[in-house]
Amino acid sequence: MSSQQSKIALVTGITGQDGSYLAEQLLEKDYRVVGLVRRSSLPTSSRIDHLLGDLELIEGELGDGGSLTRAIRRLQPDELYNLGAQSHVQVSFDTPEYTADVTGVGVLRLLEAVREFSPQTRFYQASSSELYGKVAEVPQSETTVFHPRSPYAVAKAYAYYITRNYREAYGLFACNGILFNHESPRRGEEFVTRKISLAAARIKHGHQQTLRLGNLDASRDWGFAGDYVRGMWMMLQAETPNDFVLATGETHTVREFCEIAFARLGLRLQWQGVGVDERGLGPDGSVLVAVDKQYFRPSEVDLLLGDASFVERSLGWRPEVGFAQLVEKMVDHDLEFTA
Ligand code: NAP
Ligand code: GDD
Repeated sequence: MSSQQSKIALVTGITGQDGSYLAEQLLEKDYRVVGLVRRSSLPTSSRIDHLLGDLELIEGELGDGGSLTRAIRRLQPDELYNLGAQSHVQVSFDTPEYTADVTGVGVLRLLEAVREFSPQTRFYQASSSELYGKVAEVPQSETTVFHPRSPYAVAKAYAYYITRNYREAYGLFACNGILFNHESPRRGEEFVTRKISLAAARIKHGHQQTLRLGNLDASRDWGFAGDYVRGMWMMLQAETPNDFVLATGETHTVREFCEIAFARLGLRLQWQGVGVDERGLGPDGSVLVAVDKQYFRPSEVDLLLGDASFVERSLGWRPEVGFAQLVEKMVDHDLEFTA
């Protein structure tokens, strides 16, 4: 396909974990991919540096409607993937107003620009399993009621409903992907999975001794980001717009994640309070994982487990990477990364 015939995809959040995998997959499909990036004093492109020759980047900010409108009006994209957000749950307790503006109202700004200047654009909204919060049922599906438990999740609830509203009110092709946690070697370092895989690697190299975590009993349905961005694209190729859950159908605790990660490197774990010496090490030099209250949240989401049967039936999406394989992929990467 020549570049003139290529479909145009505009991606917000292209410098993030999901944005980088999605950009790779869209380029492989011969899309013209344009990423919206915000200004920063230092480069934020490390996840997409390998793609910079093939991508176009334009400046924009989810908090600034004019920049979004100009981009959409000029590009008239065939598809718009809104992956940009203040995406950290704990951070949202410290910056609730900012999170509401960027993660919530930012979506309205995009939808208004699409409605006004590019109504043929197919719109993907990065909705989240955090919407289920204090879960009403197990597993959670497209019909499970929401009970958000953080300013982040409340902002995502606004974003979810405004996306549905613009679909119903104005006939836009607008989809919510309700994605359960998905991880990768490109995951931000402040999320628990990457924090653990990096710590395991650094401890193996002797650069770190202990690991301090919050709630070890929190349970998540963790999948691989590469599988999930494939699902985003499939949603925008559907005959009719809809909302879809993407999940693996398995849930594991933070504790289990640690056990697999450290076992991968032949490190023995010692949980806090059991036979720890004055250096913070367990018997025979085993590695200490300590619980630190600073990582606890004012209100927690205890258990997430998704039911992705609707998307499998309707679009044929299934995850390919399992839990243990995901943990090992991250640890193996970080062993090299921290060497
Ligand atoms: P991420 O790695 O934190 O990336 C977030 C992206 O948003 C970055 O590119 C960031 O740019 C951009 N961004 C932040 N604030 C912005 C602003 N004010 N204006 C424009 N761009 C802004 O997140 P992710 O894990 O890839 O997740 C992608 C999306 O899916 C997010 O909306 C997240 O909430 C949602 N989600 C994620 C998961 C998951 O498990 N990963 C599950 C469900 C839903 P900088 O590089 O400049 O910071
Ligand atoms: N970040 C972090 N750091 N979390 C910890 C820690 C720690 O030291 N110790 C325990 N946890 C627990 C958290 O309390 C939470 O229950 C769980 O580990 C996962 O935390 P995160 O990795 O920060 O992810 P999250 O589940 O809160 O949010 C992620 O997934 C959502 C989808 O369900 C983010 O990617 C969100 O953007 C996304 O919407």
